[in-house]
Amino acid sequence: MTLANFGMYGLGTMGTALAHNIAEKGFDLHVASYRKEDMLEFVAEAPRFAGSFTGHDSLAEMVRDMPAPRAIIFLIPAGQAIESAIAEARTFMQPGDVLIDAGNSDFQDTRQRATKLEAAGLAYMGMGVSGGEFGARTGPSMMVGGTRSVWEALRPMLEAISAKFDGEPCVDHVGPDGAGHFVKTVHNGIEYADMQLLAETYGLMRHGMAMTPVEVGAHFSNWNDGPMQSYLVEISAEVLKTVDPQSDKPMVDVIVDTAGQKGTGRWTAIEALKLGVSANTVEAAVGARVWSAGRETRALGEEIFAPVRGAVALTADQLEQAALATRILGHSQGFDLLATASREYGWDLNLSRCAEIWRAGCIIRSDLLNGIAEAFRKEPPAGLLAFEPTMAETLRTTVPALRAVVGAAIAAGHPVPVMTAALAWLDGMTQTRGTTDLIQGQRDYFGRHGFARVDGGSGHHGPWAD
Ligand code: 6PG
Repeated sequence: MTLANFGMYGLGTMGTALAHNIAEKGFDLHVASYRKEDMLEFVAEAPRFAGSFTGHDSLAEMVRDMPAPRAIIFLIPAGQAIESAIAEARTFMQPGDVLIDAGNSDFQDTRQRATKLEAAGLAYMGMGVSGGEFGARTGPSMMVGGTRSVWEALRPMLEAISAKFDGEPCVDHVGPDGAGHFVKTVHNGIEYADMQLLAETYGLMRHGMAMTPVEVGAHFSNWNDGPMQSYLVEISAEVLKTVDPQSDKPMVDVIVDTAGQKGTGRWTAIEALKLGVSANTVEAAVGARVWSAGRETRALGEEIFAPVRGAVALTADQLEQAALATRILGHSQGFDLLATASREYGWDLNLSRCAEIWRAGCIIRSDLLNGIAEAFRKEPPAGLLAFEPTMAETLRTTVPALRAVVGAAIAAGHPVPVMTAALAWLDGMTQTRGTTDLIQGQRDYFGRHGFARVDGGSGHHGPWAD
């Protein structure tokens, strides 16, 4: 199978950036957008690639006018927008044509669409694309799900436009149907936890250690030369060092501390719960976004309780180590979720490949991911990624700092939900005998649910009073 006729539907920020990237790598592209004016503006504003683009007034017209077999990339919002676009395109598509959903769709929707469209002879690829506008333009990380032979046909173009790590393309076929969108969703869950972790660290340095944003930014820049190296640390340092040209105040001080969310973080937590995997760092990060959205309620709470947030006697080194421990634990949960979903859905995910294609181009790219890729290449870690010898060794040296940071933060009234969640999870997962014996006693007491005895057998009941 060869594919040479590519189309792009959706010329927003991401679509435009990806279209320019594709043209730059020498591929011609048919383009259309929801509004005809957007397509005209896009074509007019891209004189450098003028010969590469063929504009069409609508999606239907583009599909109709393109020679078969066609491969259409959709870069539009998940949900109703992609659903309607598929319906519109389908009318003119023939067996052998390919639809590529490059948005952040729910993987369950992707699985259903793949089944439906494949029954009609069409190929449906769910492709996670990470890297924001800059990544899309210069080289994103891409996680491709769908039929392998279709991937092989798309491969030359996708490898050409992808980010490269030591010359290796950061794109791969990760599995069938919804696997690509699932891997991207988990990437975003890890992204949520890592972003919140850095925000917590900044909060402690700013409000517990009396540092200015520029000073915190300088520490982050230093960390970026060590084991905490990552794109998110790098851009956080830049944001913290930036001054608002309008007010001359630190930029962070003029930004309202309320963040929205489009769904992928929440879906990661929901899927983890459904699959019986703990992703409590992601849950904590999603929860913290929810707290951020309740700004008026927070103001009321501050008025009622007038909390005093004290100083914390911590060093920047301790915070760096605590952040590294939390990052490892957050990634461990994410990879555990990938492994479990792979078993559940029969995807056969290659976890070292997932880590490898996240080493460049994507939002969570970091030094740690190189170590994770290596860890999975050796042999699958027994139990959890956090237990793998090199990860465990780093945790042994950094967890004392995490414990000190969480303890000091809690004592002084600074919320650190992701760090707290990470530490609680590690403490729970390194305890052969926990405290669920009491839960089992309670369950049996009120509902005769039965319990297993340490000296053998299950279905026992306690000698409770009536
Ligand atoms: C990426 C990003 C990108 C976007 C997410 C999260 O990998 O390029 O994850 O996909 O940032 O949609 O957005 P929210 O923070 O708004 O949920």
